[in-house]
Amino acid sequence: MNPRKIIVTSALPYANGALHLGHLVEYLQTDFWVRYQKMMGNQCIYVCADDTHGTPIMIRARKEGITPETLIARSYEARVKEFGAFEMGFDKYGSTNSEENRKLSQGIYLRLNEKGYISRRAVAQLYCEHCGMFLPGRFVKGECPKCHAKDQYGDGCEVCGATYNAGELEAPYCAVCGEKPVMRDSEQLFFELEPFRDFLAKWIPAHTDSATAGKLLEWFNEPLRGWNISRDKPYFGFEIPGEKDKYFYVWLDAPVGYMATLEQWAAERGETLADWWQDPKAEVYHFIGKDIARFHCLFWPALLEYSGYRTPTEVFVHGFLSVNGEKMSKSKGTFISAKTYLEHLPAQALRFYYACKLNGTVDDMDLNLDDFVSRVNSDLVGKITNLASRGAQMINKSCGGVLGKMDDESRALLAACRDKVPEVLAAYEKRDFCRVMVLVREMADRANQLFDAKMPWKLVKEDLEATRSVLTGTLNLFRVMAICLKPILPQYAEKVEQLFGESNTVFADINKDIEEIRIGAYEHLAARVDAKAVAAMVEASKEDLKATTKTINEKDAKKAVRQLATKPAETVFPEPLAPEMSFNDFVKADLRVAQVVAAEIVEGSDKLLRLTLDIGEAKPRNVFAGIRSSYAPEDLLGKQVVMIANLPPRKMRFGISEGMVLASTDPDGSFRVMQPLTPTAPGARLH
Ligand code: MSP
Ligand code: ZN
Repeated sequence: MNPRKIIVTSALPYANGALHLGHLVEYLQTDFWVRYQKMMGNQCIYVCADDTHGTPIMIRARKEGITPETLIARSYEARVKEFGAFEMGFDKYGSTNSEENRKLSQGIYLRLNEKGYISRRAVAQLYCEHCGMFLPGRFVKGECPKCHAKDQYGDGCEVCGATYNAGELEAPYCAVCGEKPVMRDSEQLFFELEPFRDFLAKWIPAHTDSATAGKLLEWFNEPLRGWNISRDKPYFGFEIPGEKDKYFYVWLDAPVGYMATLEQWAAERGETLADWWQDPKAEVYHFIGKDIARFHCLFWPALLEYSGYRTPTEVFVHGFLSVNGEKMSKSKGTFISAKTYLEHLPAQALRFYYACKLNGTVDDMDLNLDDFVSRVNSDLVGKITNLASRGAQMINKSCGGVLGKMDDESRALLAACRDKVPEVLAAYEKRDFCRVMVLVREMADRANQLFDAKMPWKLVKEDLEATRSVLTGTLNLFRVMAICLKPILPQYAEKVEQLFGESNTVFADINKDIEEIRIGAYEHLAARVDAKAVAAMVEASKEDLKATTKTINEKDAKKAVRQLATKPAETVFPEPLAPEMSFNDFVKADLRVAQVVAAEIVEGSDKLLRLTLDIGEAKPRNVFAGIRSSYAPEDLLGKQVVMIANLPPRKMRFGISEGMVLASTDPDGSFRVMQPLTPTAPGARLH
């Protein structure tokens, strides 16, 4: 049979969020499947990328005072490392913020536009004049219109569960700066879906599971609503060609990122995207969670079909992870990041456990932490790995490390195990990894029974050659299991290969007998999991929460922004969004060294300090600076700072502010005022 040509993707993780055990439900199962395909001798290419665009990333970069590009580069590095630690075998891991993606996304849009599938209409949205941006649902808060709970997000109420549009919130405020937004109209671009009703109604049930298809087809009882694919400036994303200040909504270029990453992979080997994506023999599979089925089974196939690209062969939808039977919870310590997991436990234990639980359906999956400990210890270590450690250690100790011929019973059992392999492979193909594990466990049970019946630890005292035969059988049986498990435990299987002097084993190698060779040294394969380490991980996850609430929760961010109240809005976050400025504009800024001649707390404000600043003028300036969280008055008295001296005076509740002190913000929200390195004459200009 010719090898299949298979392209596989996992959903692209958002670049602004840390990987957690929920994400890994998806990435690990995809990896199992891809490795299985490769071991079948198929050409299987696994691509994924960071999903980098959108408002949250822009805002987070602003908060940290860095560019979105810097932010995504930093998180890319961290994620690639974590994926590596979990033994993920991507062929290419890219980023949606690439030239390839820009070109493909714009190309797809232009084709759709040419064909008249893009329409325009005005949409009223909440706009924050202070931040200078339209506010997506997660960036506006207010009172729930149904139950009147306070501080609810614009897309739904966490108290009563109502969903609504941000515009319906009562007393809305910008979640970034706290100001009251206004309603503003702006023209948006829509990708119309109604023309594709018939295509989609056929496509959906043919390319995904029936539960998912059933849910999606419910939308078809009404006219299909167009999909808003545009966002207004400021936005971190790709500009829409032919439009002014409009960007593609992140969900347009995100799935195109699958193709762009494939294109990069292909280019590295002198091939093109078309060689793969457009090859009629190639199969394309997307692994996704059920929360994003609408994007992958509705918008995505329509985008592809009508811009002249092939559509996916199938979308594999999985359910959500719960921990100990409940939704992952930050306060209970069950919202566990990949990083925290790795600090306490071996990655392979999670790969093993997830494989035991995944059955290829959209059902949710539970990680029960007690069950996790006992499965890893009793099955992976106790049942399976023990065969190798006992077998190899005895061969090395008593039989000079040399295998003999298998005894008849082992040979018979080996044949029986090999007979099960087609079932193992069929289970892999269906992504029923749980079934794979059942089959391998059964092999291990039988191998253990045989081992115990033969009692090699006793036999060795009477008949060395008989012992050698039994142990040769044990190790051959174990080897079959290790190859069956290789897609799930790749590093483990590699160590087993070394034991037998092999490399790059594939399923076809299962039929080889390994006899009369000298085996390698036995390398430790799998450690028991300590329940104490699990408890420590849960504790640390609670601490993670404390740490993050301290540095990046929204309330604090809001506070940090308000503390800068003496600055005019546009200078709050200068870098990332500031348009290019001419040199002439720059020299307009009158930056001066200022001597702090008086500093005091402002009664009635916990944020402001009143500073009296000598800048060499007849009269010192009065400046309010929102830096009290980081400085007491005496920290600054007598020191030199830098101020901008030619801003118009600003009336504040406590008086008039006649300038602004320059300070940087640390990632934790604390301030550092700028100071000259050496004492300088007050009033000296900076240039
Ligand atoms: N960036 C989008 C996907 C774009 S694909 C073109 C996204 N990112 S995500 O980081 O939120 O999620 C990535 C994948 O992880 C999604 O398929 C999502 O369903 C999955 N999971 C996120 N949390 C999960 C659980 N708790 N459980 C199982 N899968 C989960 O969506
Ligand atoms: Zn705002």
